[in-house]
Amino acid sequence: MTKHPLILAHGGAGVRAMTRTQRACLAEALAAGYKLLHHGSPALDAIETTIKVLEASGLFNAGVGARLQLDGTRRMDASMMEGRELRAGAVAGIEQVRHPIAAARLVMDKTAHVLLVGAQATAFARHFKLDCQKQPTPAQRRAAIKALPHRDRLTVAQRHTLRLFERMEGRRTLTGEAGEARETVGAVALDQEGTVAAGASTGGIALMLPGRVGDTPLIGCGIYADNEAGAVSMTGLGESIIRIAVAKEIADCLAAGAGPASAARLVLAKVARRVAGAAGALVLARNGRFAITHNTPRIVAGYWDGTGKPVVRDKFK
Ligand code: GLY
Repeated sequence: MTKHPLILAHGGAGVRAMTRTQRACLAEALAAGYKLLHHGSPALDAIETTIKVLEASGLFNAGVGARLQLDGTRRMDASMMEGRELRAGAVAGIEQVRHPIAAARLVMDKTAHVLLVGAQATAFARHFKLDCQKQPTPAQRRAAIKALPHRDRLTVAQRHTLRLFERMEGRRTLTGEAGEARETVGAVALDQEGTVAAGASTGGIALMLPGRVGDTPLIGCGIYADNEAGAVSMTGLGESIIRIAVAKEIADCLAAGAGPASAARLVLAKVARRVAGAAGALVLARNGRFAITHNTPRIVAGYWDGTGKPVVRDKFK
C-alpha cells in the first residue's frame, strides 16, 4: 500500500536559540529530502540528501561545520539505518570527508560490515573518492587551542598533554557547559513503500579527547529504524544516550504499541532519572505518526509532509 511520505530533521538540542540561517537551511534540507520521497525514492535516499544539505552548510556541528577535537583535528561520526531489512552503516572518527553520512551509506551498501572507524574509515572514503573538505589551517588549530579554558606558558605540545591529562582526571568537564553537545544533525523518514529510515552526523562534543566516540555512529544509541516499530534519531550528550541505548529503547516502546510522543517522553525521562542526561529525539512511528521531543531547553528541528511549507522551530513542547 502506498504511504503518504514524511520527513523530519534536526540540527541539535541544547540551550541556544535557532538562528535565521539555520532555520532556512533546515527548511531547505527538509524540502530536498521530501522531494525525493514524493517521487518515490527510498527513505534512505531522502535522509542522506537532507543530512548532506546540513553537513555542507557549515551552520551545524557536522560535516564542514564539525568542531575540532582537543588536538586540533576534525573527526566526525555518522550513521544510517533502514527498517525493511535492518541494514545499517556507520563511520566513527572519520577525517577530511565533506559528507560523513555518504561514507556511512557506503559502509552499508558496499561492505558486509556496520561500522568502520578512524584512519581506516578515512581510507575507505578516499577509496570511493568521496568529496573532501578543507583541513583546518595552523591558524585555526592555534585559535582552537587558544580558546580552550586552560592556558599557561608551556609549549603547545606540553599544554596539549596537560589538557589531556586534566580531561581524563576531571570527569566534570564532560558534563559541564563546555561539554554540552550542540548541533549534531539527523533525520528520519517514511517512504511511499512504508519503509522507515534514520540517520545522524556529528563532529562530537566540545573538549573531547581525541578518540572519543559518542552515540551518533552507534546503532541503537544515536539512531534506530525498524519497519515493525519506527525510526529514531537522537541528539544530546552521547555519554548519556549510550548508557540508556536510547534509540533502541524508544523503538522498543513503539513496537510495544506506545505512541511516538509517549515513547520519547518515557525514555527521555529515564535518561534524566538514571544518568542525569538531557537529549532531543525525532521519533517516527511506522504508521506516520511522529513526535519531536526534548528535555533540553530547545531543539532545532522540523518536519514536512508536503503540505504547506516545512515546519521548523526550536521548541516542541
Ligand atoms: N550526540 C553527539 C555526541 O555526543 O557526539
